[in-house]
Amino acid sequence: MTQHLTLRRPDDMHLHLRDGAMLKGIIGESARHFARAIIMPNLVPPVVTANDAVAYRDRILGALPDGTDFQPLMTLYLTEATDPADVAFAHASGLVKAVKLYPAGATTNSASGVRDFDKVRAVLEKMAEIGLPLCVHGEVTDPTIDIFDREAVFIDRVLDPIRRATPGLRVVMEHITTSEGVAYARSGGDNLGATITTHHLIINRNHILAGGIRPHYYCLPVAKRETHRQALRQAATSGEARFFLGTDSAPHPDPLKENACGCAGCFTATNTLSILAHVFEEEGALDRLEAFTSCNGADFYRLPPNQTFLKLTKGDAVAYPNKIQTDAGAVTVFDPGFPLLWAVSD
Ligand code: DOR
Ligand code: ZN
Repeated sequence: MTQHLTLRRPDDMHLHLRDGAMLKGIIGESARHFARAIIMPNLVPPVVTANDAVAYRDRILGALPDGTDFQPLMTLYLTEATDPADVAFAHASGLVKAVKLYPAGATTNSASGVRDFDKVRAVLEKMAEIGLPLCVHGEVTDPTIDIFDREAVFIDRVLDPIRRATPGLRVVMEHITTSEGVAYARSGGDNLGATITTHHLIINRNHILAGGIRPHYYCLPVAKRETHRQALRQAATSGEARFFLGTDSAPHPDPLKENACGCAGCFTATNTLSILAHVFEEEGALDRLEAFTSCNGADFYRLPPNQTFLKLTKGDAVAYPNKIQTDAGAVTVFDPGFPLLWAVSD
């Protein structure tokens, strides 16, 4: 029996589009299925000011394939020198939808991030006042903390103190990977949301490390043990408004992944929706897929729901490319490890 599903066009609330040849080569992969995306600012140099965001937005729009309708939702990269007035201006102009907090050194291109959280206090207070969300990469960078514990420790040491010190601050816990992350997201009210990636619903740490090291499954935060993956699947498919899709699709040229010191990032833009339909079907929650991909995130960001729709049809295995060829090199598409039976069409 053929199965069909109509889905309000999804939004990707955490996406890396990069710049230049890579941007040009991969943007179509997101624009094909997604109406809007929260665009991460971790370029080199990062997108720090309102002016930087205008220029980057224009480069993104300029790279879109002809005839595609895709709206980049811009973010600013929080540094210890960020000016609260510039953030307020960027928000008031309608251009910027969030500010991104990277603890310095936590991940790719995070060297300009925050070391001393007291130095960003005024910015956070301004954001609480104007209702601008803070997107948080939630990992401590303390080298004495085991990499698999860095999210849970961040919640206790950094995130909870920031939220207590800044009442009213709207926070998105980005790409949560642990049951502690799920529980903390649930402990907050309407001002706390959490994104979940596609790949963290599929892989646990064995997929990265058992039977050989698989660099295309390495990302940050790194995938944790199976119990955490199960907690993430339960959260994503629960229908709860606080959980929504942010793919964290993060392209790197293959030579930088297949490397003695490989970059972090899984590239899932191409096949994300087919994978998610598979996961939600397995969990008996196909009726909640739309909330996760298309409604909860827009509601959190106070955006109108998209008015166009996609069709998902279950049939023979869908053929996706293994790699996307770009002028910045080939990018390997995330392999979920099982055939994808849900095809996406307009
Ligand atoms: O795996 C990741 N890749 N995690 C991040 O936080 C950054 C991203 C990237 O920019 O490549
Ligand atoms: Zn990211």
